[in-house]
Amino acid sequence: MKPLFALSWPCVCVCLALTVAPFWSSSADAVEIETADDIQIYTLKNDSGMTVRVTNYGAIIMSIVVPDRDGKMADVALGYNDIASYTNAVDKPYFGAVVGRYGNRIAKGKFTIDDQEYTLAINNPPNSLHGGIIGFDKVIWDGKVDDEANAVTLSYLAKDGEEGYPGNLNCSVTYRLTDDNAIEVDYFATTDKATPINLTQHTYFNLKGEGEGTILEHELMINARRYTPVDETLIPTGKTPAVQGTPFDFTTAKPIGRDIAADNEQLKFGGGYDHNWVLDKGGQTGEMTLAATVYEPTSGRVLEISTTEPGIQFYSGNFLDGRLTGKSGKKYVHRGGFCLETQHYPDSPNQPTFPSTILEPDDEYETKTVFKFTTR
Ligand code: GLA
Repeated sequence: MKPLFALSWPCVCVCLALTVAPFWSSSADAVEIETADDIQIYTLKNDSGMTVRVTNYGAIIMSIVVPDRDGKMADVALGYNDIASYTNAVDKPYFGAVVGRYGNRIAKGKFTIDDQEYTLAINNPPNSLHGGIIGFDKVIWDGKVDDEANAVTLSYLAKDGEEGYPGNLNCSVTYRLTDDNAIEVDYFATTDKATPINLTQHTYFNLKGEGEGTILEHELMINARRYTPVDETLIPTGKTPAVQGTPFDFTTAKPIGRDIAADNEQLKFGGGYDHNWVLDKGGQTGEMTLAATVYEPTSGRVLEISTTEPGIQFYSGNFLDGRLTGKSGKKYVHRGGFCLETQHYPDSPNQPTFPSTILEPDDEYETKTVFKFTTR
């Protein structure tokens, strides 16, 4: 367990930044930047009027404003307008953040590399979740704007031993907004000791607009014929059965709510969907593939997610319960947002049959995910 000052320093930094200094805006360039001490908020805009706001705190995507089929704009990402609300949110929902060093769970917070056992904080008993107590979602990253690319790159050095993980891990995430309404997310990392790594983006989407009720009528397609069922602590069993004939079959688009209340042990364990699907890659490991498509019938908005990753975690916002009020004053109700987290499978460091998540010192970690918005 880390000392208390280590647990709370990011919050202290952020609160100081927010109370001591006002935000300064600069908008001469394509990417608008608001700065207060160590905290920056970047606004990316494109020629179609789409905007994406990101901050170097937790590499959080704070908003995604996209048109519906009539051109009416709405913010489809759950979250807040100010950083303090992220640090104060009860139950820490990871709104919009990059999670790391290891996205999702590692069983009992333990893994072994080269005969050495490592121990992580148990922040989701009995397991370790989303990189530990101060994961990458709660640290301050360094930001660098590339106006020409309409992109911002956020970098973070996770120290050897930080949150129990081995190796100094130098990592970055680049968010680029294209003129065809796509957010390209590129992750890169190197290490000086072998370490597990699994970075993902934890945005909660509601394509009707954040705070506009549940996502149960959204129609979801997941390009996967198999998934990784879990035990009651949400650790994969190691099996990868077919989804066919189960509530986990999204190979053809269906409303998220259609089978969510089915009498099914896996749905009970997750309190709804909170599982990893094994993407159909057609033998193209590491190549971009379409992972999922979501269509919201009232607005006509469509989200298409492509990735180089082998898996995707579909989480149906089961822990949202109306206690959090979002950026426009609306409550985030139960299942008021969904996450589609492209990733390697949970607990891979302890699962010999899953694709490896160990980054070696002479290797480069490089993955890409694209979130593209259209209408129908
Ligand atoms: C992931 C996990 C969930 C939950 C959410 C955030 O999707 O699998 O169990 O932790 O993040 O609340």
